[in-house]
Amino acid sequence: MALLELDQVHKHFGGLAAVNGVNVRADDGEILAIVGPNGAGKSTLLKLIVGLETPTRGAIRFAGQEITQAPPHRVRQMGIAMVQQTPRHFASMTALENVALGALFGRAGAHRQEEQALELAGEALSFVGLADRRHDLVGHLNLHEQRFLELARAIAGGPRLLALDEVMAGLNDTELEASIAIIRAIRDQFNMTIIWVEHVMKAVMSLAERVVVLDFGTILTEGLPAEVMRHPAVVKAYLGQEMNHA
Ligand SMILES: Nc1ncnc2c1ncn2[C@@H]1O[C@H](COP(=O)(O)OP(=O)(O)OP(=O)(O)O)[C@@H](O)[C@H]1O
Ligand SMILES: [Mg+2]
Repeated sequence: MALLELDQVHKHFGGLAAVNGVNVRADDGEILAIVGPNGAGKSTLLKLIVGLETPTRGAIRFAGQEITQAPPHRVRQMGIAMVQQTPRHFASMTALENVALGALFGRAGAHRQEEQALELAGEALSFVGLADRRHDLVGHLNLHEQRFLELARAIAGGPRLLALDEVMAGLNDTELEASIAIIRAIRDQFNMTIIWVEHVMKAVMSLAERVVVLDFGTILTEGLPAEVMRHPAVVKAYLGQEMNHA
């Protein structure tokens, strides 16, 4: 069953069609990757889903309800969480307090008492392997710890859909493996649906079940990772990166 459906979605910024008539569906429990060159409209697409942008045209449905015009807080309460490309932490708060915010402002019906939020936050931090950093200030965490913290904050709210924007950028090989394992575990243990924008192709190849390729705001091709990666336009766009990894 489709948990998320985008139907002919457009987003124009002045004369620029950042997203230009996109149809996407994500099934319950699926890991769907969105790839494409810089400026293709990937982040805009995620922002449209979570209500940070509003479509110029088209419709977005989640769990059978229309959310096309829904504001971010409403979308969060309905069960969609996002990790943004540029994380915004509260650097002067502890890791635990930061993650507790995700629990407090997450899905409706989630535990809203502060004590319960802190408990959920502790569980989420353990899940991403940051239990021993819970009382550290976020400003003291390194890049990969900050990304895992973002993941913890997103899952602490108990979402059904997790939108991830380039959460693997800048990680070394060990951190990348850890990150792949955490995202796979999030899906397997909580049956969350994951819509994941990523440039790191080897991560996409190992984790994604389906890939959508965006270019100039439209879908160039979509399918199984191995199929999509053989598409001539995709080979051309990613050849440099693949060679760098060889
Ligand atoms: N708020 C905005 N106002 C005007 N133009 C915007 C805005 N947000 C995005 N754009 C433009 O829309 C296009 C798509 O941007 P978007 O950030 O979605 O691309 P992207 O695929 O995420 O790129 P990247 O891989 O570099 O993150 C770009 O040309 C960008 O400059
Ligand atoms: Mg982006």
